[in-house]
Amino acid sequence: MIEVANLTKNYGPYRAVDNLSFSVRKGEVVGFLGPNGAGKTTTMKIITGFMAASSGSVRVAGFDVFENPLEVKKKIGYLPETPPVYGEMTVESYLKFVAKLKGVEKERLHELVERALKKTDLGSVRTRLIQNLSKGYRQRIGISQALVSDPEVLILDEPTVGLDPRQVAEVRSLIKELAGQHTVLLSTHILPEVQASCQRIVIINKGKIVMQDAIESLSARMSNSGRVFLRVNQQVPTLVSSLKETRGVTALRQPAGADSFEIDTDGSKETAAALAAKVVNSGAGLFEMRQESFNLEDVFLKLTTSEENQSRGQA
Ligand SMILES: Nc1ncnc2c1ncn2[C@@H]1O[C@H](COP(=O)(O)OP(=O)(O)OP(=O)(O)O)[C@@H](O)[C@H]1O
Ligand SMILES: [Mg+2]
Repeated sequence: MIEVANLTKNYGPYRAVDNLSFSVRKGEVVGFLGPNGAGKTTTMKIITGFMAASSGSVRVAGFDVFENPLEVKKKIGYLPETPPVYGEMTVESYLKFVAKLKGVEKERLHELVERALKKTDLGSVRTRLIQNLSKGYRQRIGISQALVSDPEVLILDEPTVGLDPRQVAEVRSLIKELAGQHTVLLSTHILPEVQASCQRIVIINKGKIVMQDAIESLSARMSNSGRVFLRVNQQVPTLVSSLKETRGVTALRQPAGADSFEIDTDGSKETAAALAAKVVNSGAGLFEMRQESFNLEDVFLKLTTSEENQSRGQA
């Protein structure tokens, strides 16, 4: 439904998006992740036809965005990072205005506006002027206008930013509901949000894809690998290398002092038992041991900071 191929965007000499390729299938909800400045908003502006690419191509529902921007805009509901302000309109008249722009027929207009108001819980402020509403309400109006034409494709740039916890939960379940009938690409910094509402994630850093995977296989992989935290009673010089050499150990760090170890393992009980035995046999004394499982945050930080360290090393 969305096909991004070899997309590149330069802002003058600065390359914000670098040869990006990914696709989103019909009915899929995909989370688009990356640190600040990674190029998420830039990519979304190009997909929605609001900005031209430097090179590469984007197709939405079979239409080339650069050749048929108007067709594409009709098929897409877009929540921009900074929603446009039509402060002097009421919520309801603004939604009607957007629906008409998107080519909604007269007969469906009322029904679709009512549905969008309901789904984003805006019924109580429908006659208020947008300029007098709080930030969270304006964000909901942004989501509402993206939904109002019942578009096949939704591009949501940080949909829950600025919402209160109850609204965050409601918007997440709304996005989940959209799966199946709508194709959704949403950007976010909130990792639990991705786990709550997406089927697949695409992580970018410095304009490049660093990972894409299904949430399901990702969590399976994450629960297979395990991190063990160990603390000993006293330091034994040979212990570090002996722990490192243990079968099933992939990395060892000492971020909390010389008497403690953070060890990445294959997650098996055997590896954990071998580590415990080594500590005890070394005479260091086992003070504390716990197994921590990886989470999405770890994956994200690992993927987006190791690149940074590499380029720093090169500089
Ligand atoms: N109009 C512009 N002119 C010049 N540089 C720009 C412009 N817009 C964005 N950039 C730069 O391009 C890079 C990518 O920006 P972009 O807004 O796409 O990132 P993002 O992933 O959405 O970040 P955030 O998480 O902070 O929203 C950044 O380094 C930004 O400074
Ligand atoms: Mg952004």
